[in-house]
Amino acid sequence: MENNRHSESVRLNKYIAESGFTSRRKAEEYIIQGRVIINGKVVKELATKVDPFNDVVYVDDVKLKKKNKIYFLLNKPKGFITSTADEKNRNTVLDLINTREKIFPVGRLDYNTTGVLMLTNDGEFSNKITHPKNNYKRVYVVKIDKDLQVKDKDQLLSGVYLDKRKGVFTELSYVKERNYKLIRVTTVEGRNHFVKRMFSSLGYRVVELERESFGGISTEGLKQGEYKILSYNEIKNLMEK
Ligand code: URA
Repeated sequence: MENNRHSESVRLNKYIAESGFTSRRKAEEYIIQGRVIINGKVVKELATKVDPFNDVVYVDDVKLKKKNKIYFLLNKPKGFITSTADEKNRNTVLDLINTREKIFPVGRLDYNTTGVLMLTNDGEFSNKITHPKNNYKRVYVVKIDKDLQVKDKDQLLSGVYLDKRKGVFTELSYVKERNYKLIRVTTVEGRNHFVKRMFSSLGYRVVELERESFGGISTEGLKQGEYKILSYNEIKNLMEK
C-alpha cells in the first residue's frame, strides 16, 4: 500500500542523542538522574517517547533544538526505487537528495516511473497526503503499447475491478491530437501499480509512466533528477485541502 504510516514519536534517549547533546547511553543516565524535563515536567521513565517537532525538552538548563520539518519535491527519474533502503543495493530516491535530515518518500512510484515525488521527515503530512479518504488528485501521463479503444476509454472512466475493488479514472484525455497511445489520466487512488493495473485489466501494457502532479504540486521547472524544497505556503495549501 502507498499509505505507510509514519509515527512522529521517538524514544527520549534517541531524541537527546540525535540533538547532538550526548550519546544514547549518557542520555539514559541523565533521564534516570531526573535531569531531563519535557514540557515542564521531570521525566525519569526510560521508555518515554517525545514528539521531536513539538515537545520542548531540556537537559539540565539546556534547551534542545526541536526538529525542523522539511519537504522536498523531486522530479523522479527512471531507475530509482522509492524506498529508504534496498536489499538488492539498487539506487533509491534518497540517493538523489542532499540532506542530513532523515526523510522518506511520500507514497511511492515504481522503479521506472518518473515525475512528482515528495519526500519529508513529517509523518503527519505523509499520512494525510496518502490516506485514501483524503482524495488527493494524482495526474499521470501514460504511454500504452497500442491505441486505446473508445469502449475501453469509457470503461476506465466508469471503473474496472482490481482485486474486487473498483478503480476509476475521474478524467481521461489524449495528450496530442490523433495519438491514442499517449493519455493523461486523473485519479485519487494510491494503490500500488494502480495505473498499470487499470490498463492491463483491459489488455494494454504501460510502456512509460509519468506523474505530472500530486495534490496540485507539479514538477514544472524541474528536470528529471532535480529537486527543490517546497515552501511553507505550498505545504500549508496542501494540508488545508
Ligand atoms: N501507478 C503505477 O502503476 N505505477 C506508479 O508508479 C504510479 C501509479
